[in-house]
Amino acid sequence: MSKPRIAIVIGTTRPTRFADKPAQYLLAEAQKRDDLTAEILDLRDFDLPFFAEMASEAWMPSQSDAAQKWQQAVAGFDGFIFLVAEYNHSITGVLKNALDQAYKGWTRKPFSAFGYGGVGAARAVEHLRTIGVELQMAPVKSAIHLAGGEFIKVHPMGQNAEMDAVAEVLAPSVKATFDDLVWWSNALSPARAATLAAAA
Ligand SMILES: Cc1cc2nc3c(=O)[nH]c(=O)nc-3n(C[C@H](O)[C@H](O)[C@H](O)COP(=O)(O)O)c2cc1C
Repeated sequence: MSKPRIAIVIGTTRPTRFADKPAQYLLAEAQKRDDLTAEILDLRDFDLPFFAEMASEAWMPSQSDAAQKWQQAVAGFDGFIFLVAEYNHSITGVLKNALDQAYKGWTRKPFSAFGYGGVGAARAVEHLRTIGVELQMAPVKSAIHLAGGEFIKVHPMGQNAEMDAVAEVLAPSVKATFDDLVWWSNALSPARAATLAAAA
């Protein structure tokens, strides 16, 4: 079986975002493992319009070129870790829009999150889990939460230390999250393939 291909989805796009720092840290951690491959999937690279289709991709092909490009990118992955900033106790508007702009590429694939904020974006991550269920995704138990003093330590509005300063605290949840994603990817990829083969 080939190694699961995991996307690290950057869920914020504002010019001065913090997200790049945890994203690059997470990519480096992923690259230390030999049981998966990981790539950054950055919403900035897709310039998605606000959803304006006749219907979800679940029901008909999307008209927007940007949405189609996004759907193709999503479809190429076996699982996802979303970089989740908490904006007013939920996920960002751009991430919700990006979730809405695809469907088939999300379904029956596992996902987790790296949440950051005062409470490690725990509220937003829980919200993301329920959104994922509607997209027929499989939320895994483990997630990474960069919270409280640890968040302030590395955030530019705080001490702006390098991610090394919080690596020891994050290490157990980073390992558990990748372990969960690999397990679920390995379980679901053959099951998706069998369903496609049966329908062909
Ligand atoms: C519109 C907005 C709402 C926010 N709401 C929350 C919040 O509910 N909880 C929280 O912990 N941080 C909140 N923050 C602070 C963010 O955690 C912080 O700005 C973080 O850097 C945002 O991620 P980004 O830099 O990748 O955009 C909010 C920030 C913005 C811009």
